[in-house]
Amino acid sequence: MMARMHSPLTLPTEITSSAPDGVEALGWGALEGLETARPGLEFDVAWCERRRFKAKPGDSLVTRGEGGRVEVLLGFGPRDQLGTAALRKAAGTFASATGTAKTVALDLTGISELGVGAEQAAQVAIEGFWGARYRFTRYHAGDPDPLESLTIVLGEEEVSPGERGLERGRVIADATRLARDLINEPAGALTPAQLAEVAVETAERGGLEVTILDEEAIAKAGLGGLLGVAAGSVQAPRLIKLVYEPSPAQARKRPDGSIPTVALVGKGITFDSGGLSLKTPEGMLTMKTDMSGAADVIATMGACRALGVGVRVVGFAPTTENMPGGKATKPGDVLKIRNGKTIEVVNTDCEGRLVLADGLSLAVEERPDAIVDLATLTGACVVALGPRIAGLMGNDDRLIAALHAASQRAGEATWPLPLPEVYRADIDSEVADMKNQGKRGGGALTAALLLQEFVADRPWAHLDIAGPARSEEDQGEFRKGATGFGVRTLLEFLGSYEPLSSPATGAAGGKVVV
Ligand code: BES
Ligand code: MN
Ligand code: ZN
Repeated sequence: MMARMHSPLTLPTEITSSAPDGVEALGWGALEGLETARPGLEFDVAWCERRRFKAKPGDSLVTRGEGGRVEVLLGFGPRDQLGTAALRKAAGTFASATGTAKTVALDLTGISELGVGAEQAAQVAIEGFWGARYRFTRYHAGDPDPLESLTIVLGEEEVSPGERGLERGRVIADATRLARDLINEPAGALTPAQLAEVAVETAERGGLEVTILDEEAIAKAGLGGLLGVAAGSVQAPRLIKLVYEPSPAQARKRPDGSIPTVALVGKGITFDSGGLSLKTPEGMLTMKTDMSGAADVIATMGACRALGVGVRVVGFAPTTENMPGGKATKPGDVLKIRNGKTIEVVNTDCEGRLVLADGLSLAVEERPDAIVDLATLTGACVVALGPRIAGLMGNDDRLIAALHAASQRAGEATWPLPLPEVYRADIDSEVADMKNQGKRGGGALTAALLLQEFVADRPWAHLDIAGPARSEEDQGEFRKGATGFGVRTLLEFLGSYEPLSSPATGAAGGKVVV
């Protein structure tokens, strides 16, 4: 039963001002140029050089110390570039280097003297360590993780801010883990109804309001895009709505006393076969991942209260399978979306934009200050930016800039792409307001242009996470498989949200004029 799938991170993690006696693995930082990052700790530079350890971010050098203790020297990179990204990565490397040690300690004493506050350092160390330590073990016995405790060592003055960072890091790592668990879960075990159940449970734990629309309610609400995609599946669709209201003490009110609202919309295709425009076997293989946007929204919202987010957040996750059953939507069919606009389905594999059109229409009805959607939307975006970087598009420069900055602070790579009006004609249809597929080139952009038709006058940004939602290899704090990419960016964005005064238009870097 999905309801018992997720258990919070309960492993003891603590902050102290000295490494516990008898700890089995201990990690320290080294700066490029082989300078210690830990005042008072000396190491043998010539010996490091012989082993070609250069202290680049992600580098590590493992030795055995007294009593067989595993000692790990971690690359923090150049001193002038030391920031949260390098620390998160180093903590991830440490997590992979400690072998079977049961008790481990990461010594960050004096980190605040290197320009990273102790609170932030502890937070990203936890994110990196637990991110890298993640395993999806539901379906194989394997060896259980022998780890019993993680200690972060800080200077006396750093312990108290470090403890605040520890709590934040724990919540963020836990949210990321929930997203990864949901995304890694096979589509046969995580149907739309089960994803909705997890949302209900997450709402209970995170103090959120939750509404689930079943198939009948979806039809009544006029969500024709969601219904149209669901038509070919025996699994019924769901529309998940979550609402987070900040407590009065935490609310970040505007001068007039009102509280800003941010709407989040996540693509929730629990399996994308392509529908009648069927994918190839290889193309289909990873398509249980196609609900990553929805998983990110659910996991993010579940963490809002624990992190004291000060704005109202309304989340929508339209969720369904995309299957080629006998009742499936056929190429040429026309669907009517919640906001009244019609879409000709020329390719049933362009299904994400159909369900998002309904999700965005619902979001607009909340009159939010900003809308952010996340979707594993196009293979074209992976071609454009590769597997590690998400495409960032939208209709409001300041919102795009804020999200871009948040993603950088969170260590998740995004890059702005244009929303060129000149391609809008590519989705003109003879029979409907638009069709769901443009020309061969610029597929990520025409997909976003279609989404724009459903955001009315609201400031909106779109993250195409088709690449980074999955990783093909272990990489820093990411594991092969689901990454939970987007959760950290969203939490950072919501945590630092500044109300936008009035909407601005154009993609980041100015409008593309052709
Ligand atoms: N879910 C896919 C996009 C995708 C592709 C995500 C690869 C992750 C990795 C989306 O629904 C889709 O099928 N898009 C098609 C559109 C095409 C038929 C125009 C694609 O990108 O191939
Ligand atoms: Mn598809
Ligand atoms: Zn899809």
